[in-house]
Amino acid sequence: MSASVRKLLGFCFLLLVAGHETTTNLLSNGVALLADHPEIRDQLRADPDLVPLAIEELLRYDSPVQGIGRTLTREVELYGQQMKPGESVLLLFGSANRDDRAFPDAEVFDIGRSPEPPVALGRGIHFCLGASLARMEARIALDALLANPAFSWDADLADAERLRSGPIRGFASLPVR
Ligand code: HEM
Repeated sequence: MSASVRKLLGFCFLLLVAGHETTTNLLSNGVALLADHPEIRDQLRADPDLVPLAIEELLRYDSPVQGIGRTLTREVELYGQQMKPGESVLLLFGSANRDDRAFPDAEVFDIGRSPEPPVALGRGIHFCLGASLARMEARIALDALLANPAFSWDADLADAERLRSGPIRGFASLPVR
């Protein structure tokens, strides 16, 4: 297999994993949160134009990708900490999204925040390639669930099982009807 075919297959694999685990868990985190917040469900049903704001808040509050490791290519100083090229760092998106300096009352799920963009999809040249697709998928799925009278929001969170994963936050199982 040539190097370019290997590279292409590697990229397809990245797309599969990056595009699947993430959005799936954005949705399961969203269902669990909305199961817990009937008042927000009612608000979204009354005004579906609020769903995109709810998705941004969901990305912030329960970031499906909590962190990613990176290797520094140059010297960096951050809050007095000197770091050298070649050193490994861990970017904790989930932690940044709960930083009160950027998001007042960060521990509160509030779809009415002024839209300071969360860092759940990264920043800079590696910003998530699938960001628009992820937002669109979440919009379609949440609109459909909110509009479906047969969907029961009485998710029994006691029966839910969290994913045992470092970087990904979501559910291995979330029984709903
Ligand atoms: C809620 C859903 C998603 C979340 C939370 C998410 C999150 C992220 C994050 C945090 C990064 C790293 C950004 C950085 O290092 O600055 C990333 C990169 C990436 N994402 Fe997503 N992602 C999502 C959905 C998707 C989808 C649907 C696709 C494709 C179908 C996708 C494809 C990629 C790819 C290819 C990269 C690497 C980009 C690069 O290194 O240049 N993601 N994503």
